[in-house]
Amino acid sequence: MKKDVVILTGAGQIGMAIARRVGFGKKIVIGDKSLTNAQTISKIMNDAGFDTVPVEMDLSSRESILNLIAEAQKYGEIAMLINAAGVSPSQAPIEAILKVDLYGTAVLLEEVGKVIKEGGVGVTISSQSGFRMPALTPEQDELLATTPTEELLELEMLRPENIRDTLHAYQMAKRCNEKRVMAESVKWGERGARLNDIAPGIIVTPLAVDEFNGPRGDFYKNMFAKCPAGRPGTADEVANVAELLMEPAGAFITGSTFLIDGGATASYYYGPLKPQE
Ligand SMILES: NC(=O)c1ccc[n+]([C@@H]2O[C@H](COP(=O)([O-])OP(=O)(O)OC[C@H]3O[C@@H](n4cnc5c(N)ncnc54)[C@H](O)[C@@H]3O)[C@@H](O)[C@H]2O)c1
Repeated sequence: MKKDVVILTGAGQIGMAIARRVGFGKKIVIGDKSLTNAQTISKIMNDAGFDTVPVEMDLSSRESILNLIAEAQKYGEIAMLINAAGVSPSQAPIEAILKVDLYGTAVLLEEVGKVIKEGGVGVTISSQSGFRMPALTPEQDELLATTPTEELLELEMLRPENIRDTLHAYQMAKRCNEKRVMAESVKWGERGARLNDIAPGIIVTPLAVDEFNGPRGDFYKNMFAKCPAGRPGTADEVANVAELLMEPAGAFITGSTFLIDGGATASYYYGPLKPQE
């Protein structure tokens, strides 16, 4: 029997938390570069009454994305996309961050947008990190939003000589995610579908734990200690926002980015996290 299908990319804590909120009764196709991660999350969810299947896929490859979509379509129409795959500044070199987080996300939103079911809905995960970078020019924003996916990594601002370090690459990728969601939501809207973005602050997951133990560990610990919430967040709190965005209560919300960071960005601009001159 055909079911509505959810594509979940990134078998991590955030992705699973969202899929558990919105995926019951649907077929959930879980794609991850690590088949072990996909299998682990698939088993946890199947043991809890969900209907999932793990698939090995690489977000940095269009071919792999198309294979995942084809696999998903075997089960029915794609009604939902949850993109929670990504690499962090401490996990990968500049090139990989741009290929996975920036290019891969753009391709995924584009390709799923071509086949999403009428009335379907998608959410992708960017980061508060994109909010800390100074504003880009309107021209740069438009280039990030609308440059054809295969030309994105050729943009002057993304050339290796213009990217300072992995954090800068990550910030550019996450800024690009916001802009792509705006531009893609217009196309998704032609199919009656919606697309939004969530920009989390520090959420305790394996990715964040790598950051706590990485070269910027003290920076991150200071960040959550001095943000208004005074603590890191949980994947379930991100899922609270995703549930609103993906359910009918969010029907008027599309093309938007939602910051959920315990107030860290507010403190960065106007509070104790403000960088000292
Ligand atoms: N945890 C945080 O504090 C935090 C904060 C802001 C943004 N984010 C973003 O949230 C998203 C999910 O992160 P998480 O914290 O749940 O991490 P996680 O480590 O729990 O999960 C990320 C998953 O993505 C997979 N992945 C990595 N590269 C991939 C590729 N090329 N193709 C397919 N899968 C790939 C990993 O194998 C992993 O299973 C990421 O985009 C991350 O940048 C996380």
